[in-house]
Amino acid sequence: MALCDLPVLITGETGVGKSLVAELIHQSGPRASKEFIHINCSNLSPELFESELFGHERGAFTGAVERKKGKLELAEGGTVFLDEIGDLHLYNQGKLLLFMDRGIFNRLGGNEDLRANVRIIAATNKDLRQELKKGKFRQDLYFRLCVVEIYIPPLRERKEDIPILAEEILKKGSHRIGNEKVLSSEALDKLLAHHWPGNVRELENVLRRAMVSGDDHKIITEAIEFYNIAHHPSSEPTDAASSVVFQKYKEIVEGKKSFWEVVHKPFLRRELKREEVVEIIQMGLKEAKTYKKLMKLFNAGKTYKDYKNFMKIIRHHRLSS
Ligand SMILES: Nc1ncnc2c1ncn2[C@@H]1O[C@H](COP(=O)(O)OP(=O)(O)O)[C@@H](O)[C@H]1O
Ligand SMILES: [Mg+2]
Repeated sequence: MALCDLPVLITGETGVGKSLVAELIHQSGPRASKEFIHINCSNLSPELFESELFGHERGAFTGAVERKKGKLELAEGGTVFLDEIGDLHLYNQGKLLLFMDRGIFNRLGGNEDLRANVRIIAATNKDLRQELKKGKFRQDLYFRLCVVEIYIPPLRERKEDIPILAEEILKKGSHRIGNEKVLSSEALDKLLAHHWPGNVRELENVLRRAMVSGDDHKIITEAIEFYNIAHHPSSEPTDAASSVVFQKYKEIVEGKKSFWEVVHKPFLRRELKREEVVEIIQMGLKEAKTYKKLMKLFNAGKTYKDYKNFMKIIRHHRLSS
């Protein structure tokens, strides 16, 4: 499949190995000798993303003192990996679609048509079909990206992989600490019984910690400790839940109602789940970018006291993760 050189969309929860698979696809395809360049779509403002991907001309924005090549130009002949594409702003989705359709793009602030021969591999932990319904993702772009879709199941649904993964992780770690470690069979049983919300990344973390606790050759059950890793809010949205989230969001942003009334009070009355509140806040943050601006977007008050209150609640209920 890698040889086909088609766009690929990789989906699955956080930590399942999407980035790793993207790189493997690149490496086993015809572009292996060229660059593989990673961009995370979730933490860049629309303008910054545009400049990252397409580059910018001198003076395109304050601080753009020189022309800068974008990742598309830098990856010429190779692959650009668009990670967390589900978080890509609608504005950037349009620009990306134009490039994928015609192979042509402009640098930010420029009007020269440039061409790039680059393969696009994208990944997301969101269900893009849900995002389409919510109007957060363009359908035409979705069809462009998912010519080939690879879904990586969560680790809890393929526990038969755990022994091999564990062995590999321990082998890598043994090199680093200069001390070979193996799992006791009870410790392996404990791993097999766990739910793994953080998937392979969580397995790596658990084993790395276990390796440095105690100096015995064997890793015993007591050395295996799980931490409460919060589920990613968007990893398993039920239809009902996501429509509540969307409704509440609209009520606040379009209906100009206050976050305190629409979300916080029902949350305290246990009519809203923590995960739902997290998702509403995440949606707002994507729009607002900062908590200060989120306060405004969510009609949550203008005073410093309101802000402090808001942040306290977010920390107290761990609403930001
Ligand atoms: N099949 C695998 N074999 C070895 N390590 C893996 C495997 N799948 C995932 N990992 C490791 O798990 C961690 C999370 O993988 P990553 O690709 O970053 O996940 P995602 O992009 O889906 O969040 C990485 O350190 C990666 O190397
Ligand atoms: Mg990743």
